Amino acid sequence: MATSATGEGKPKIRRIGISTGGGDAPGLNAVIRAAVKSALNLGWEVVGIQRGFDGLFRPGMAKKLTARDVAGILTMGGTILGTTNRGNPFEYRTRVKGKAVVKDMSGEVVKSVKRLGLDAIICIGGDGTLKIARQLADMGVPVVGVPKTIDNDMPGTVITFGYDTAVSTATDALDKLHSTAASHQRTMVVELMGRYAGWIALNAGVAGGADVILIPEIPFDIDVVCKKVEDRYHRRRNFAIVVAAEGAAPAGHGMFTREHRDTGRQEVLLGGIAAWVAEEINKRTGRETRSLVLGHLQRGGNPTTFDRLLGTRFGAAAVRLVAEGGFGRMVCLRPPKIDSIPLAEVATGQPRKVPVDSDTVLSARMMGICFGDKWDGPSHPR
Ligand code: F6P
Repeated sequence: MATSATGEGKPKIRRIGISTGGGDAPGLNAVIRAAVKSALNLGWEVVGIQRGFDGLFRPGMAKKLTARDVAGILTMGGTILGTTNRGNPFEYRTRVKGKAVVKDMSGEVVKSVKRLGLDAIICIGGDGTLKIARQLADMGVPVVGVPKTIDNDMPGTVITFGYDTAVSTATDALDKLHSTAASHQRTMVVELMGRYAGWIALNAGVAGGADVILIPEIPFDIDVVCKKVEDRYHRRRNFAIVVAAEGAAPAGHGMFTREHRDTGRQEVLLGGIAAWVAEEINKRTGRETRSLVLGHLQRGGNPTTFDRLLGTRFGAAAVRLVAEGGFGRMVCLRPPKIDSIPLAEVATGQPRKVPVDSDTVLSARMMGICFGDKWDGPSHPR
């Protein structure tokens, strides 16, 4: 990394790289645009690295970005740089002579950063990507992180971009389910993303008027869920909306997982809870029940105003962090300001979970929303 000729400790930056890793999230392009525009205005060059860290050791996947490349992308979902949730350079899975092998490609990444003349890299990603970024920082690569995930489970920041859009998409879906559920007197069980945290399910569930919300932080009892559903019919409401986070599970039962054939994917894929809950409700109550999985729709679409703004603030703040030499750190939101925190403190593999005593959970309970557990609080208003 080039250092300041004035000896003030601030690095002399000429060229930076920018990459997006892990699952995409609405607002990624807002971050890229803000970082590119801010860096160009400081007289730096920006290199876009394609498909996460893969782009650093595969030829031809790094290209200079101009103002023209980022024009008009503020409102677009996805990422113009492409992404992957497989490419960990420290455990790179590939095939040699037809045989599956795991290789450590981190040395290639370090060489490539030097070859490309990058004085810093802005890595935009979730905990997996930022853990890799931290490991690269430990090897001397000048890295700055930007937190991203629709799951909102990143420690060190009160919110990540992409999450607001996902909640809005899920809330919209719940609004639409109400009319069909009511028309058919059905119970609809909707599975929402979020991995091991229930942020999307909790907030979309409350905003979308769900009757039952199941989240990983509160193990549930299916009998309590069925009682709530039955109660709805007894009170002649004649339909019910159940929201289940993909990581929710009955007490004493592991999370529901799906098989997949993605080579190189390190994490299990969650899924199947909604189908199970719907079947159990039908078996135990006899009520007509349907389930659906909202899935990747939650990751798509144009970012909300909130996510555009947060992405933009994070992108420009990442450039300021590079200019200050704040390597090995991640920008974060500590309202009202954007701050930064060492990557070592956040990329720990421990997701930030919903506090079960949060006011949102309490308010939901006070309105009669059931979390599938026994709650001894104020009696439910009817
Ligand atoms: O982390 C974002 C997320 O969408 C999770 O909510 C979900 O469990 C996972 O990614 C799905 O991963 P994939 O895109 O590989 O199916």
